[in-house]
Amino acid sequence: MDGQKRKAQLDGVAETTLWTLHHRALAAKDPGSALLDPKAIEVIDAVDYPFERRFGTGNWGYAQGMAVRARCYDREVRRFLRDHPDGTVVSLGEGLETQFWRVDNGRVHWLGVDLPEVAALRKRLLPDAPRHRTLPCSATDTRWMDEVDASRGVLILAQGMLMYLPRDVVHRLIEGCAARFPGAELVFDTPPAWMAARTERGRWKYPAGYRPPPMLWGMTPKEQRKLRAVHPNVAAVRAVREPRGRGFLCGWLLPLANLLPAVRTRRPLWVTRVSFGPTKHHQGVSR
Ligand SMILES: C[S@@+](CC[C@H](N)C(=O)[O-])C[C@H]1O[C@@H](n2cnc3c(N)ncnc32)[C@H](O)[C@@H]1O
Repeated sequence: MDGQKRKAQLDGVAETTLWTLHHRALAAKDPGSALLDPKAIEVIDAVDYPFERRFGTGNWGYAQGMAVRARCYDREVRRFLRDHPDGTVVSLGEGLETQFWRVDNGRVHWLGVDLPEVAALRKRLLPDAPRHRTLPCSATDTRWMDEVDASRGVLILAQGMLMYLPRDVVHRLIEGCAARFPGAELVFDTPPAWMAARTERGRWKYPAGYRPPPMLWGMTPKEQRKLRAVHPNVAAVRAVREPRGRGFLCGWLLPLANLLPAVRTRRPLWVTRVSFGPTKHHQGVSR
């Protein structure tokens, strides 16, 4: 990076990319961090935006939560690259994620997709390169699919994005991916339905004043099961177990909550992997 700051003027759902970057960079700056991400620190230092005034000076719980989520996605990408070292990773709603630099094996091809205003900022901070590029396009616009080289395997990620879309739109997106990319997988995360409903009522407010935009799609076990019926190519829907984080909350409480059926549905982060196969063979929702 050239030392110049890039002004960020984003609002609504586009602004959430600065919110998650803020917390990931906080986690990465923590000396004993569970997330190694020097690029996130480089990027946040190059953005002209009042991060602390808007999101606060640091909520350790959120930062660790974002670190756990990012590590969960990294693990999914590394698993994919073991079988498809030259494959294509598509990151829908990529924002200012620096995951490419955390997991790059020197061969992967990476396509980031985000709304035009976010993609423009990303391209100024993280310019396109031969194996890594950003497409200004809504994830709901199927034109991004034309840009994907599916010949060596495809993994589609939607980190922190699908909850901002209505349920029927998400189902159509999954349907489109299933039809277009048989053999691929989609990994996404959602809040539980009760938490999404809180954001819709405007109940989630940071002490610094920031209110995340309404989350329109939350997960329940029933909804997770229903995803199997979205398209005949949906071969399996699996709940992905998050890696252990640091501290009492992410290191102990959340992993413990995952083991207890009575509270598992209350957990704040649900990561789901949908596998697309050419033929349907129901495997149910499994952990
Ligand atoms: C919470 S941020 C997550 C960014 C990044 N994935 C991360 O984890 O840091 C949500 C991102 O989704 C993007 N987004 C929301 N709706 C979108 C859509 N319809 N198409 C593409 N991107 C979208 C936003 O612009 C934003 O960058």
